[in-house]
Amino acid sequence: MDWGLKNRLAKIIKPQNNRALMLAVDHGYFLGPTEKLENAKKTIAPLLKYCDSLMLTRGVQRTSVDPNTSVPMVLRVSGGASIIGEDLSQEQITVTMKEAIRLNVSAVAMSMFVGSKYENQTIVNLGKLVSEAEEYGIPVLAVTAVGKELGKDARYLSLACRIAAEQGAHIVKTYYCDNFRKVVESCPVPIIVAGGKKIPERDAMQLTYNAIKAGAVGVDMGRNIWQSQHPVPMIRAIRSIVHGNANVDQAFKLYQQLIKENQNKPKTAGQNSSNQNQKTQKKNSNKNSPKIPTTHQKNPKNNPNQKPKNFTQKTKPNQNKPKTSNTKSNNQNQKPKNPNQNKPQETKK
Ligand code: R5P
Repeated sequence: MDWGLKNRLAKIIKPQNNRALMLAVDHGYFLGPTEKLENAKKTIAPLLKYCDSLMLTRGVQRTSVDPNTSVPMVLRVSGGASIIGEDLSQEQITVTMKEAIRLNVSAVAMSMFVGSKYENQTIVNLGKLVSEAEEYGIPVLAVTAVGKELGKDARYLSLACRIAAEQGAHIVKTYYCDNFRKVVESCPVPIIVAGGKKIPERDAMQLTYNAIKAGAVGVDMGRNIWQSQHPVPMIRAIRSIVHGNANVDQAFKLYQQLIKENQNKPKTAGQNSSNQNQKTQKKNSNKNSPKIPTTHQKNPKNNPNQKPKNFTQKTKPNQNKPKTSNTKSNNQNQKPKNPNQNKPQETKK
C-alpha cells in the first residue's frame, strides 16, 4: 500500500484506536430530499465537528459543506437509479477520479448489489474503480447494498463483504446482523456498519456497541443521527461508544445529559432549546433539527423513506433492532485493544 493511500485511510480510520465515525449524508443520491436532510447544509453544520469523516455526493459537498473544514470527505461516485425507478441496483460510476481529486476527497465510495439483477455490472465497476483509485492513492469504500430477495443475515452479508474485499475494496460498509462476528472474520478489510432505518436512539447505540464488540471498526451512520430529535447529543453519544469505549448505558446517559444541558442553555435569538424543538418541531426549524415537511408524513406516497416494494435496502420490522441480551456474550471474547477500553470518555476531534 502506498503512502498516499495509507495516509488517506488514516484520516478515516483513526490509527490511535483503529476506529471510525463516518457520518453518512449521501441518501439524496437516490432518495431525493430525505426527511431531515432536505437542507443538507443545515443538517451537516452542527454535526461536522463530531464525525471523523463525511460520506456524501459531489453535489452536497460543493453546495453544503464549508471548504475550510478539515474533516475528510468520502465521496459517493456511483448512482443512476432512483427510489421510484425500476431497479435500484442499476448503478454506474457517475463521478470521475479527476473530479474526486479536485474535490480533495480522502476516499471514494460506491454501492455493490450482490444477488441483484445488476450484480455483475456493480461488481465489475467496483473492480475497475479500485484499479483507477489506487493509481492516485485513493481508498475505495464498498457499500454492500442488499438485493430484494436476500435477507440481511450473516450468510448473505459475509458473502457480499467478502466479494467486495476480493475486488480490492479498502473498507466495506455493511449492516449489523446476528452472528456479525462471522461477517467480520471472513472479511480481510475493515468493516463499518450502517445505522439503517431510524430506530430508537438507545437501540442505535446498542447496534453500534454490538457491532464494535463483534469487530467492526466503527459506523457509517446517517438517519439514526440526523433523524433523531436531538442530532448533536446523538452523534456525541455514538462517538462516546466508538472512540470513548462507553457502554450503552453510559452513552444513553450522556445523550440525556446533553439534551438537558441544551434545554437549560439560555436561548439566543432565533435558537430554540432541544426541548422546545421537540415540542414544536413541525413548526420550527433550527440548526440542530431541520424542518420535517408535513407532506411526507401525510401521504406515504410522497415520503421517500416509504420505499416501494422493490427497494433493495428496505428494513424488515425489528431487523435493525439490536439484541441487548447478548451484549455480554458478544463481549466475552473481545480483548480490549486499548487499556482505557472500560473507561468511558466522550471525545472530541
Ligand atoms: C445509502 O443511502 C447509503 O449507503 C448510506 O450512506 C448508508 O446506508 C448509511 O446511512 P444509514 O445509517 O442512514 O443507513
